Amino acid sequence: MSSVEVVGVVGCGLMGSGIAEVAARSGCDVTVLEFDDAAVKRGLDRVRTSLDTAVRRGKLAPEDGALALSRISVGADAGALAGCTMVIEAVPEDADAKTSVFRLLDEVVERSDAVLASNTSSIPIMKLAMATRRPEHVVGLHFFNPVPVMPLVEVVASLLTGDDAVARANRMATEVLGKHVVRSQDRAGFVVNALLVPYLLSAMRMLESGFATAEDIDAGMMRGCGHPMGPLTLTDLIGLDTTMAVAESLYEEFKEPLFAPPPLLSRMVDAGLLGRKTGRGFYDYPAQVA
Ligand code: CAA
Repeated sequence: MSSVEVVGVVGCGLMGSGIAEVAARSGCDVTVLEFDDAAVKRGLDRVRTSLDTAVRRGKLAPEDGALALSRISVGADAGALAGCTMVIEAVPEDADAKTSVFRLLDEVVERSDAVLASNTSSIPIMKLAMATRRPEHVVGLHFFNPVPVMPLVEVVASLLTGDDAVARANRMATEVLGKHVVRSQDRAGFVVNALLVPYLLSAMRMLESGFATAEDIDAGMMRGCGHPMGPLTLTDLIGLDTTMAVAESLYEEFKEPLFAPPPLLSRMVDAGLLGRKTGRGFYDYPAQVA
């Protein structure tokens, strides 16, 4: 690709750090905006570990790992995003939090042609676009966890997104980051989560009704259907809070009972049992609290 985007990422959590890593590995300078110092530390540790893994697995030359790390700068100054040509928002799946970010980006990003993208899993892009005075530049760019490994990105245009923003988001995902793109209309959950989340919720209902154990539900889908992870292990990877937020967006949009979060999920989120990131979800991860 001839012109590499100057990339901003908002949020240094699981998704934000992964997006920053793949953009830096692809040669982009990346500025990450994160207000929480602990999240900055965890995010950079995650990037270092992932780069080390990539080098160890022969996916990346050692010198390219160091170069990628040097391309990422993280800080709490929103003004640092002023010169970005593409900003990807990756804060937690909360419509108010994401709307505030888009309001902020509208203020601080000076380039009038900058693409403002959201990594939302489920919130309609139009809601975020309308928080700005430039809805034609707002687009969905939805990555999958773990970002350095999963090859898919969903590109989502709202009714007001311009062709240029869609083309640049598409080019970023394919030519720069080397991902496979699927296009979705601007509907809650887009293609993948509209299909995946009811399946995950069904597994939770199966567990909570005593129909089968967690281990047997997961083994059933891995060994019977060839999935790399069972649905409860996958929910632990995604995060129970994120899964719950996506289910709520889907339920709000479609009012279908299959999208309603089951009580077990709500109680586990209330209890802070959010999966791998907190060390306990449907399974225990004693070494993974970070
Ligand atoms: N950088 C680059 N490549 C890496 C890497 C890194 N940091 N870490 C691992 N890899 C590569 C490995 O080298 C390996 O490549 P090969 O297949 O070429 O050998 C590949 O990635 C798999 O790595 P592992 O062997 O370590 O891992 P695994 O086989 O145990 O698989 C997994 C792990 C990829 C997570 C797999 O279990 C899986 O695909 N699980 C399902 C994940 C999933 O469904 N994610 C989507 C969640 S939904 C979501 O994110 C959207 C949402 O909005 C909620």
